[in-house]
Amino acid sequence: MKKIIITGGSGFIGKNFINSLINKKFSIHNFDKLSKVSSSEKFKLKKNKYKFYKINLINYKLTKKLIFQINPDIIINFAAESHVDRSIDNPLFFLKNNFISSINLFKIFRDYSKNNGKCKFFHISTDEVYGSNNYNPSKENSPYKPTSPYSSSKASSDLVALSFNHTFKTCISIINLCNNYGPYQHLEKFIPTCIFNLLQNKSIPIYGSGKNIREWIYVEDTCEAIMKILNLKQNYYRFNIGSKIRINNFSLAKKIFVIMKKMKKTNMTKQNYYKFVTDRPGHDLRYALNSSLFYKKTKYKLKNNIDKGLNKTIRWYLKNHEWVKSIKKNYSGKRVGLND
Ligand code: TYD
Repeated sequence: MKKIIITGGSGFIGKNFINSLINKKFSIHNFDKLSKVSSSEKFKLKKNKYKFYKINLINYKLTKKLIFQINPDIIINFAAESHVDRSIDNPLFFLKNNFISSINLFKIFRDYSKNNGKCKFFHISTDEVYGSNNYNPSKENSPYKPTSPYSSSKASSDLVALSFNHTFKTCISIINLCNNYGPYQHLEKFIPTCIFNLLQNKSIPIYGSGKNIREWIYVEDTCEAIMKILNLKQNYYRFNIGSKIRINNFSLAKKIFVIMKKMKKTNMTKQNYYKFVTDRPGHDLRYALNSSLFYKKTKYKLKNNIDKGLNKTIRWYLKNHEWVKSIKKNYSGKRVGLND
């Protein structure tokens, strides 16, 4: 049975990824510091298949000791602070957490892989590193032009990973994802914000003009896509994983409203279900990924279009009261990131 270390396995994508491994032959080691945006979870995994380590990756010594002890075949670094608005309020916190923790892992992996050449390392990153993209979708070799403290913390980590590959001949693979949504996403993000405002019969706050475009993928597709990459015989250093589903915030909010109205889960009307609010400072207009390399090499076919994904997501939030309650305990819903 292969040993896999998942960092940030109690966060949004990490948790979904662990769930996707339930019927696969892996012994899973989840490293997570547990914070306001991640919560412990009882995975439906047999005890001998899953182990949780409460650890902050900034602690280099302990992280190194554990990785060498576990002796993994695969490491996937999902651990990251990811909310752009909060990064505007607290840039240093984001840089410290996202940058130092990643560099620690790269250093440890460099030393560990000297004697364990077969171990694979995947560093999960974002399309935001390419900056606002108004024309051709960004390719793996497009220039990095991050604009927020969050995206610059991810971009700088990616660049260090590439420098390690060049200088130390490590083979760290960087995977840049587009916007994900689905089960366990923190309520501060846009799609859950739409759902919970409508549920509480409040208008959806849409930043600026609502014309900002994001590329959206349902998290289950992301997990399967990452698994496809893990199973490739050849090692690739870079992959973009997008969906080509590009939609502006206003249209997305409208879709969610229409679904929830049909489900009779909101009393809001066509006239009042949204309101335009002060824009996010430095708000990137458009993210778009060129993911043809990934689709060509893996032959993966997306399973969820946006309507299917949104339906599943809304139903998941409606069903999982306990999880929602646990998140709400530490989340006021107050607007952040206005730089005032
Ligand atoms: P978000 O979920 O924060 O992800 P990201 O900034 O990583 O793309 O936001 C998605 C888009 O939705 C982004 O353009 C900002 C916008 N947005 C709103 O219009 N209103 C909101 O309340 C939030 C949280 C986001």
